[in-house]
Order: sequence, then C-alpha cells, then structure tokens
Amino acid sequence: MKTDQMKKEFKSVFNLESTESYFTPGRINLIGEHIDYSGGHVFPAAITFGTYAEVKKRDDNKIRLYSMNFEDLGIFEFSLDNLVYDVNDNWTNYVKGVVKMIQDAGHETSTGFDALFYGNIPNGAGLSSSASLEVLSGLIVSTLNELDLDMMEIVKLSQKAENQFVGVNCGIMDQFAVGMGKESQAMLLNTNTLEFEYVPINLAGHSIVIMNTNKQRGLVDSAYNERRSQCETALELLQTIESKPYLCDYDLDFLLENKDLFEDELVFKRAHHAISENVRTLKAADVLKQNNLKAFGELMNQSHISLRDDYDVTGKELDCVVSSAWKQEGVLGARVTGAGFGGCALAIVKDENVQSFIDAVGKDYLEEIGYSADFYVASVGDGAKKL
Ligand code: GLA
Repeated sequence: MKTDQMKKEFKSVFNLESTESYFTPGRINLIGEHIDYSGGHVFPAAITFGTYAEVKKRDDNKIRLYSMNFEDLGIFEFSLDNLVYDVNDNWTNYVKGVVKMIQDAGHETSTGFDALFYGNIPNGAGLSSSASLEVLSGLIVSTLNELDLDMMEIVKLSQKAENQFVGVNCGIMDQFAVGMGKESQAMLLNTNTLEFEYVPINLAGHSIVIMNTNKQRGLVDSAYNERRSQCETALELLQTIESKPYLCDYDLDFLLENKDLFEDELVFKRAHHAISENVRTLKAADVLKQNNLKAFGELMNQSHISLRDDYDVTGKELDCVVSSAWKQEGVLGARVTGAGFGGCALAIVKDENVQSFIDAVGKDYLEEIGYSADFYVASVGDGAKKL
C-alpha cells in the first residue's frame, strides 16, 4: 500500500489531511520455535507484508483510531488519560495497551492523534499481525511526543502490552522481529540476554514459500499458556538438581540423565523440544552463514518433527502441508512457523520449482483437508519505520 489510497481514506474518515506515514512488518521465524519464553535462541526475519498507518497530531489529548480492515467497526475514540482494556474495543486494545505501557514507564504522552490503519498480513495466520500493530503504535507515540525511544525499548513495551494489557503470555520474538528487521537479513536473537546478530539470508536460487493453512487458530491462547507453564514445571524439576535460570540453559544429556525426575511424560517431552530446538537453532544459524542450505533445510525438518511429536503444536493441517512439502522436488526443508495450532508453515524451495510446488501441495491439502491453503513467496524486508 498504497499510501496515496490511505491518505484519501484518511481525508474521508476524519475530514482532515494526514501528515505522517508509518509502516511495521509482519514476521516469519526460520527456526527456534516456542523457546523465546525459555531463554532460547530464535531466528526470525521481518517480511514485506505489514501494517501501515496514516497519522495526524491533535491539539488535545484524544486518540481516534480507524482501520480499513475493520471498516464496520468505525472510529474508536479514547482519551490519553483513561486507557483501559475493554473487549468491545477489539483491535484498538493493542494500540491502547502500548500507549499505556509507555505512560507507565514514565514517559509524557500528552499529544493526541488521529490514525488510520491498513494491514496486509493475512489475518490470524501466525505472521504477527498483532505485534506489528503494537510496535507501529509505539513508534507513532514515541515520534509524536518526541520521546525518542529506541526501538528495543518500543519492542519491550509492546511485549509488555501483550502480556499485561491484552493478557497473552507471549515471549519477545515477534515484537523484536517486526521492530528490528532488516531487508534480506534474519536475526539470531538470544532471548535471555537480548544479544542478537544479523545473518544474511543467501538462498542461492531458492525462495521461502509461506504456506497458509487457513486453519482458524481457535484455542491458541490457552494452549500456548499451557505449553509455557509445562516448560516452567520442567525448569523447576531440573533446578532441583542444578540451578540454572532458563530451561534452554540445560543440555540434552543432562535432561536425559535426569529423566526420572519427570513423572509426567508430557512435561519431559516439552523440555526435550525446548532444549533440542535451541541446539538446532544455533546450528542452523551457523550452517546458513556457511551457505550450507541442505543442512539448514534438514534442521528445519527436524524442528517440525519436534514441534509435532514433543511439543504437539502442529495439528493435521500444518502436518499436511509440511509432509506434502517434504515430498516435492526442489525442497530443502519445511516446517511450521510461529505458535502453530493452524496458521502458517514455511518451505525453502528452488526457484524453478516454486510454481509446481504450490500446485502440488495445494492439491494435496485440498484433497486431505477439504478447503484450500494459500501460498505467498516471502520477501524479507525492513523493520518498523516512519515513511
Ligand atoms: C508466538 C509468540 C512468540 C513465540 C511463538 C512461538 O508467535 O508470540 O513469542 O513464542 O509464538 O515460537
């Protein structure tokens, strides 16, 4: 988009001219899944799908918000000194939450604004549309109030909004990826120390194909929180033998040696995924740096198997696209991306095979699941920015 179209729309919705434009992307995660709340490493990248905003400062302390994705909901209006969660406020809770967290961190936010949003991240597909809206809101508020917050601070406050205002106990990966992304680069992030490095994605004649199962992610929040608490239980058990701060600080041998601690087999499996996924992620970043794409693809496959068998977050739709992808010509690897339970998977596919890949996986999916999957070739783009 389509800034011009949005400017026109802003005029017709608010009867004013917008003065500033902003963009924040969505993200994919190449590997390192469900370990950003266990102190593990993740390896996401920002994509060129994202959320756009047209904005104009106001003279009072009101914010008025409108989304072209939810036109029926109309304009929402709030005062900056009374921001509380209300389920009826729908998508605007993400915006309110971030503003509230910025205020609670001690920053002065007296400048109100009108904002019109449009997003082209497929809805509810696990490509971080909510993190995108949060970080975008943080950037707008920081800019308009001349707070000059650095992006890492906006990232942290956005995660806090999701945890404390919206009530989803997510890790920091999504907000980090959409805030800090760079064109053609993945980011290897240590979620414990928040140290990170950019790693160029050189796929030598291959593309990243996003496979959207179009499966509604119904119980995702409760299942997500349950996985998280199983990891906390595993950590407490291991800490009785040797105290380390995070589950991913333990190695696989230590876990296996202490298997007897686990009365609940499921808790053991969750820990097995977390610890092994962290090792795979570090290896994956290494082999990508060495341009060993074959090894990278194999690690992606192992990650999917671990998320399927140990972590149980894939489900038949994701397993269907991924196992079909594994059979196709020119495929180096495929796996779920994001929280799972529906949403999207990724495959690394040789450029010349992309079309036949999409046709074949699409056909398998329709036959087995009964409705269509969607496919997009991902472009890795920049993080949040003022346009
Ligand atoms: C969601 C969460 C992230 C992360 C992933 C799984 O996207 O928001 O913090 O836990 O799931 O890797």
